[in-house]
Amino acid sequence: MKIAFVGKGGSGKTTLSSLFIRHLAANEAHVVAVDADINQHLGAALGLDEAEAAALPAMGAHLPLIKDYLRGTNPRIASSDTMIKTTPPGEGSRLLRVREDNPIFDACARTVRLDDGDIRLMATGPFTESDLGVACYHSKVGAVELCLNHLVDGPDEYVVVDMTAGSDSFASGMFTRFDMTFLVAEPTRKGVSVYRQYKEYARDFGVALKVVGNKVQGPDDLGFLRSEVGDDLLTGFGHSEWVRSMEKGRSSRFELLEADNRMALQALQDAAEDSYELRDWDRYTRQMVHFHLKNAESWGNEKTGADLAAQVDPSFVLDERHAGAASPA
Ligand SMILES: Nc1ncnc2c1ncn2[C@@H]1O[C@H](COP(=O)(O)OP(=O)(O)O)[C@@H](O)[C@H]1O
Ligand SMILES: [Mg+2]
Repeated sequence: MKIAFVGKGGSGKTTLSSLFIRHLAANEAHVVAVDADINQHLGAALGLDEAEAAALPAMGAHLPLIKDYLRGTNPRIASSDTMIKTTPPGEGSRLLRVREDNPIFDACARTVRLDDGDIRLMATGPFTESDLGVACYHSKVGAVELCLNHLVDGPDEYVVVDMTAGSDSFASGMFTRFDMTFLVAEPTRKGVSVYRQYKEYARDFGVALKVVGNKVQGPDDLGFLRSEVGDDLLTGFGHSEWVRSMEKGRSSRFELLEADNRMALQALQDAAEDSYELRDWDRYTRQMVHFHLKNAESWGNEKTGADLAAQVDPSFVLDERHAGAASPA
């Protein structure tokens, strides 16, 4: 399952991503967490100290290795220099699986020990608002998109991406790579405005989008969100003393998180599972091709000097059958 947390800066994306990851670990799911937020705080929210968080490798710095590995022996990709963030897998490409060991995880992932089990954490490395703008080929989140497009995941395997919703993720197709997108919104007009923009992009691509209210203080807050986003409202989180204590450096066991907030996390997991069951692998593959052709035409062909449309393998579909080759870890 591929899950994204998006929303306005400060809305609580990182906080809710980290709580959801802890919840999944407590339910014995296998998790790869990806920090693709402008402010790289997911490591800290998962309990890493400053030195550990700073020592996380940056995926952006390992792009050549990532491309080289994923390209495998795909004859349609002449060299990894012609691989752009939207280059789709085809016959001969290497695929990724949540539970395996591979050179990309070796280079880019670190194991984080939580109360209830270990998860893998990867991080894009720092980027700025301007990285998300026009210069597609500078994209720091491109490494994440490549990995998502080459990743075959099963029902108890989760990739959770803490993500900034910049124009880049709409231009490249990143926003269509998830079974479920949780839009974190405080019960304010600003919080809801990000939802409207996202919804607009999401509509044409069948993106499953649910609003998760955060810092919800009572029925009036929840009512406000309901009136603004209707049935897209999934649930609401209250202010969490557990989170606040952790930020004071007094972390306590995850099982002590407030009961209401734990229930909200379970609602997120249920929604994600329901959505994964509806995954249409054909459509998933078609969409990556759609965005690849669009990017090829608008900047990729020119940038690489190659005809990137020729990278598309028309008979390839990313699907569960590819998971069969996974080496259990
Ligand atoms: N439900 C909550 N309870 C208590 N503090 C929260 C909650 N949600 C967010 N916060 C706090 O608000 C601040 C911003 O949250 P953060 O998750 O970093 O937002 P974002 O990743 O969207 O920028 C952080 O200090 C965080 O601890
Ligand atoms: Mg954040």
